[in-house]
Amino acid sequence: MCGIVGYVGPRQAADLVLDGLRRLEYRGYDSAGIVAFDPGGPLAVVKRAGKIAVLEEALKRSPLSGRVALGHTRWATHGRPSDGNAHPHLTEDGRVAIIHNGIIENYLPLRARLTAAGHTFASETDSEVLAHLIEEHDRGDLADAVRAALREVDGAFALVAARQDASELVAARATSPMVVGLGEGETFIASDVPALLPYTRRVVFLQDGDVATVRPEGVEVTDLDGRPREVTVETIDWDAEAAEKGGWPHYMIKEIYEQPAVLQNTFGGRFAEAGDDVLLDLDLDPTEFDRVVILAAGTASYAGLVGETLLERLARIPAEVEVASEFRYRHPVVNERTLAVAVSQSGETIDTLEALREAKRGGARTLGILNAKGSSIAREVDDVLYIHAGPEIGVASTKAYVAMVAAFALLAVRFGRARGTLSSDEGRAWISELRRTPGLLEEALERHEHVHPVAEALAEVRSVLYLGRGINVASAYEGALKLKEISYLHAEAYPTGEMKHGPIALIDADTPVVAVAPKGALQAKTISNLQEVRARDGRVYAIVSDNDSDTAAHADLTLRVPACRELLSPLVVAVPMQLLAYEVGLRLGRDVDQPRNLAKSVTVE
Ligand code: G6P
Repeated sequence: MCGIVGYVGPRQAADLVLDGLRRLEYRGYDSAGIVAFDPGGPLAVVKRAGKIAVLEEALKRSPLSGRVALGHTRWATHGRPSDGNAHPHLTEDGRVAIIHNGIIENYLPLRARLTAAGHTFASETDSEVLAHLIEEHDRGDLADAVRAALREVDGAFALVAARQDASELVAARATSPMVVGLGEGETFIASDVPALLPYTRRVVFLQDGDVATVRPEGVEVTDLDGRPREVTVETIDWDAEAAEKGGWPHYMIKEIYEQPAVLQNTFGGRFAEAGDDVLLDLDLDPTEFDRVVILAAGTASYAGLVGETLLERLARIPAEVEVASEFRYRHPVVNERTLAVAVSQSGETIDTLEALREAKRGGARTLGILNAKGSSIAREVDDVLYIHAGPEIGVASTKAYVAMVAAFALLAVRFGRARGTLSSDEGRAWISELRRTPGLLEEALERHEHVHPVAEALAEVRSVLYLGRGINVASAYEGALKLKEISYLHAEAYPTGEMKHGPIALIDADTPVVAVAPKGALQAKTISNLQEVRARDGRVYAIVSDNDSDTAAHADLTLRVPACRELLSPLVVAVPMQLLAYEVGLRLGRDVDQPRNLAKSVTVE
């Protein structure tokens, strides 16, 4: 949430920072701005409300030069998106500039105190207090001033500060992510790795409480008291093209089409040679727990819902998904025999991170199902199961969802084998089914054009009901979320059997149902429910298995998917649901990669 980029080195810094911001635009796109300068010269700023394209236009008219720059792309919290509220924020004399990601919780008293001391504020943001505080504490050393300022602020955030006469940038991290990229005679700082990929793979992930002084020759990190901290330089294995559109019109569609390959990566090297078990390289012992609590937000929580069923069915261990933002505030019951699984693409979602910390306080053992390496959650869990989906740039999650579901399937097989609830033969059968899934998704993608008539129909309505049973209740939730995010249509999801307890009141000729109904144990009941919809003039668009003509007979339009085990069908049905959301979004002229009001990595509560 909010993207930060900084550069110090021999090149024109504003160009590199602008390029980095473009790569981080998924973190927020309400406004953007850059400050650039040569040490000793004035800080020059250009900032604009709107997307980075607007800033880019402004920079063409007023180019910025200098070897040091910092830039920001904003997801608004305090203060509406406007030129004035855009970052960077400067002090009145223009000597100090900051960019900030997160929330300063005590900004009101700080702002009052600073105003009384004679500071004039130019914006409505919480962030601006940082610039004035740093100025107030400035005794000559910028890093000292930042440390002193930080001692006064509460909240979860990251910031970068520049001073007109200083040749370095100073970055600090309190919970929100920040990574330093080490180049040859140049150094970068950014909220996330994709901004750095074209320039360097050698990175240092900052930790909570770090204050980093960034110079062309490298980085020096201290804690808040100025004590030096040894850092580890890590190498990122994502290639730069993975974070590019590569000829596709949108990241979303590129990422949907990557899914068969992503599944191969998630499974890669994880099937035991004997073919009846999964190798996960985890320290945890699956027999030591009597409960699994899955902590996640958004799409990750729906992957968790699939995971809940898989763990219960294959490993007979009670599992439940907890919405991360609620978990920490409801005094949850956890203990040493609880396994808390934090599921997150970014590894930075603050709700999930805080829920994880709450579970740890209760004594739970912890596991992360994560995509981004070096993330906050990765550092705080006992064990990590990486999903290996590569960089996901489209704001609405697609390939990470499928990879999370696949990771849960691996975990469920492993736990089932270890806990003795899956025999060797059953383990073998599950693994051979899992091996088929990349091919099944490939087939589902080949049917892309089948979604067009359904997309045409949905683009005409204002409200859609998604229904599913069993493990595909989760699919219905995820399908409805995708449609909401991408098309801004109202979409709700319910377990099919619940429809008659209320949602059926919504059904009429203008409120269609998308039935996520691949073949399963409760097919006859699903068919009855679809009849109930049609008896009330509701149109039914059904996702059904290839071998199921009975369900298809009760739908106005069908989307067929290759048949597979019911418990693995969430992987396959994800494809038409994602394509449907994408196609409806396109028909309604939406920005499918950057839907309004959303951000990909949500680092504020
Ligand atoms: C945001 C994104 C969602 C995502 C959720 C959790 O709300 O817009 O697409 O599912 O955060 O993100 P995570 O990185 O924790 O999976």
